[in-house]
Amino acid sequence: MRKQGNVFLIGFMGCGKSSVASQLQELYQLDVIEMDEEIVRREGRSISDIFQQSGELYFRQIETDMLLKIQDMTGQVVSCGGGVVLKKENVQIMKASGTIVLLTASPKAILERVGKDDSRPVLKGRKTITDIEELMEQRRPYYENAADHVVTTEGKSVTEIANEIWKKLEKAGNE
Ligand code: S3P
Repeated sequence: MRKQGNVFLIGFMGCGKSSVASQLQELYQLDVIEMDEEIVRREGRSISDIFQQSGELYFRQIETDMLLKIQDMTGQVVSCGGGVVLKKENVQIMKASGTIVLLTASPKAILERVGKDDSRPVLKGRKTITDIEELMEQRRPYYENAADHVVTTEGKSVTEIANEIWKKLEKAGNE
């Protein structure tokens, strides 16, 4: 990737942002920032604890602080938390500092991936297809408004997804 800004992977929880980011790192030697991991490191506590002890607004503010730092970097693949697009300011920062790629998956596929994982406070007590469909519908306009590119993940390997993203970036002049 030419040093022309960053690539932000966005999408609903469990759509594969982290796996695709690692694959982009492996295949194309790109630097990766895992926002959730960075937040956990910085706070010294889990995401569930942050939500429980300090509230969602606090968590969302850390996301914004982190994006502001990333804004000064370039050439990074950023695997974002699924709710990052909910704040207009975050979308503005991302748009100003790179390209936003939306990964999508069906509620069924999402449920299969996140069903047994209790690390996501937003999904606590909301682990049915209907709950996920509902939340996904609520968030759909935010994701679609933010995205420069959309990549569906269903039925594709992470390698195929990473290659597809790379091609889109190349075509758009980010290579
Ligand atoms: C969230 C998604 C999570 C994490 C937090 C909130 C959300 O990230 O940031 O639990 O609101 O969608 P992943 O999308 O990586 O699971």
